[in-house]
Amino acid sequence: MTGSNSAFSSAGLIIRQREPKNLEAPIDRINSYVTPTELFYIRSHFPAPQLDRASYQLRIDGAVGRPFVLSYDALRSMPSETRVATLECAGNSRVFLVPQAPGAQWELGAVGNAEWTGVPLRTLLARADLAADACEIVLEGADRGTPKEEPIPPAPILYARSLPRGKAMQPEVLIAYQMNGRDLSQDHGFPVRAIVPGHYGMASVKWLTRIQAVREPFHGYWQTSDYAYWDSMDGKPVRRALGEMKLKSEIARPSVYETLAPNRTYTVSGVAWSGETDVTEIAVSTDGGRTWAPAAFLDPVRRHAWRRWKFDWLTPKNPGKHTLLARARDANGLMQPGEHDLNYGAYVIKHSLPIEVFVGDSRDSLS
Ligand code: MTE
Repeated sequence: MTGSNSAFSSAGLIIRQREPKNLEAPIDRINSYVTPTELFYIRSHFPAPQLDRASYQLRIDGAVGRPFVLSYDALRSMPSETRVATLECAGNSRVFLVPQAPGAQWELGAVGNAEWTGVPLRTLLARADLAADACEIVLEGADRGTPKEEPIPPAPILYARSLPRGKAMQPEVLIAYQMNGRDLSQDHGFPVRAIVPGHYGMASVKWLTRIQAVREPFHGYWQTSDYAYWDSMDGKPVRRALGEMKLKSEIARPSVYETLAPNRTYTVSGVAWSGETDVTEIAVSTDGGRTWAPAAFLDPVRRHAWRRWKFDWLTPKNPGKHTLLARARDANGLMQPGEHDLNYGAYVIKHSLPIEVFVGDSRDSLS
């Protein structure tokens, strides 16, 4: 699928939408632990706002005892932390849904692993004297517009999302200004963004201008209409905001419909990650899920970051079509499922994704 019909940006990202920018990584070209910034996916709902370093202000207010405003320089002068975290867009791999689901047809590359530098959110909340009864922290971006999906709000809205207090107070949640050792690029949220390791990408609000503590749960567009799923309460369906990333693995190489030489060792490779737990096992099937064999991790366990893995496959002697699958297991014994969970609609595509390949001459196999 990551093939000749896709349009590529100059850096090598695959264009899903030109404006606002929605670009995905060519996952088959990524073999480093840290994804280079130029190959890190971009997912934006509205055109990127132009924010100026000199006039930038971050407001921390709401249910706090001491609201305050921070300039860019003031934020940068505070003690910082650097953490590696995987971001996956909740719509990643949507192209694998049958029947086709509405929305950007992401393949495997709306995910990346980067090093983020910034100030822990909890440091700012402590400085503002967060109220004891504040239940959520609303993160607000400077971008605004009118969403295309129904129900369409009557007036332009901004991008804002809340984090439960418990997660907001974890040390890994950063108010970040650097990615991979360089100042954030405009598309990745310059000058300042939130990074919420362990949660789907939609929680990591870019172009962050306000942090507002609230005493009532926030029901904004981006966690009710969009980026929400069906749960059940006493047997009754309820909508809940998406949050923690689910266990998932992907095959990066070979690509879908790639042709491999017969009777050779081909190294199948990919990545695996999860939300608030660790990925501990990875297995590969080369026969559509009938049998599985363990694969080997290339990276150690590091909470909130992906692990690359590989598996040496001796390809069959005879030409034919084969379906490859990867299946991860986490520290709690949970295993990646074989089917999509319909409660998540067009999001959270976390089942083992079939990668069909040809062994032998592709023209023979296709005819
Ligand atoms: N923040 C703002 N302000 N506006 C957005 O459209 N998109 C979100 C999140 N933060 C978004 C945002 C989504 S859906 C994802 S997956 C991540 O940003 C993507 O971050 P990236 O573009 O740096 O990869």
